[in-house]
Amino acid sequence: MGELKLEFEDKTLLKLINLIYHHTGIAMSEKKESMISMRLRPRIRELKLDSFEDYIAFLESHNTEVEKFVDAITTNETTFFRTPRIWEYFGKEFLKDWKKDHADQCLNIWSAAASSGEESYSIAMTCLENGVSNFKIIGTDISKEILEIGTSGIYSGRNSIEFQSKFPLLKDRYFDGSGETMIARRSLKDHISFSSHNLFSPLKSGTQFDIIFLRNVLIYFKNEDQQKVLKNVSFNLKKSGILILGESESIARLETSYKYKSPLIYTNE
Ligand SMILES: C[S@@+](CC[C@H](N)C(=O)[O-])C[C@H]1O[C@@H](n2cnc3c(N)ncnc32)[C@H](O)[C@@H]1O
Repeated sequence: MGELKLEFEDKTLLKLINLIYHHTGIAMSEKKESMISMRLRPRIRELKLDSFEDYIAFLESHNTEVEKFVDAITTNETTFFRTPRIWEYFGKEFLKDWKKDHADQCLNIWSAAASSGEESYSIAMTCLENGVSNFKIIGTDISKEILEIGTSGIYSGRNSIEFQSKFPLLKDRYFDGSGETMIARRSLKDHISFSSHNLFSPLKSGTQFDIIFLRNVLIYFKNEDQQKVLKNVSFNLKKSGILILGESESIARLETSYKYKSPLIYTNE
């Protein structure tokens, strides 16, 4: 196999951009050429293929490759307790009200586009720290590979180091392990399940959620596709349920069923 070129022919790049859009809804511009190339190269090498064109042909003739393609192309960046003001709201307002009004009910939470699960575990810790123990979280993502980290509950590297230095008490209360590696205890894991799901179809869990975290994923979609995703998500959100978005996301200009409550926080009307 020869050296793979970093750049593509224009038509190859356009084909890849169309395939990414087709399989994930992610809209990439031609400016992302080198990122697309870097992300796909390890897989092309693994398959011992000679060119990006060969990879496109392989992808188009092997349905099973779609999963690997999606794993390679998605951006899975996340952290524990990302965007502090959301956790202030969730702990001090949402859960406080929930305890008053729904003492006996199970709180159903969807962590959509959950990536490696740090958000789902942050939700679980916030519930337990605020005295809510009857709750279930489902974490979903289009990438099956990244969900394996959440399912394992084992974290190491940058996110684990940062979490342990910012929240040493929570580390001791909810995780085992030493050094960089930390392993979620049953007290957290038993509340969370992970499964793969593409936001372009409604979630078939049968659950009407009380609150949905849909953070830092809409930014990857075109306006009209954001609207489709928001509509799908609304089918799984209770009337007056809460939708939480990511820090650089706004849905003010879109036609949706959500009403603005405070920055990044919406209710389903
Ligand atoms: C940047 S991460 C956000 C993780 C977390 N929600 C947060 O805010 O930290 C974006 C995630 O969206 C997922 N994603 C992209 N397109 C998706 C789709 N069509 N359906 C479901 N998940 C998708 C990616 O796999 C990735 O894990």
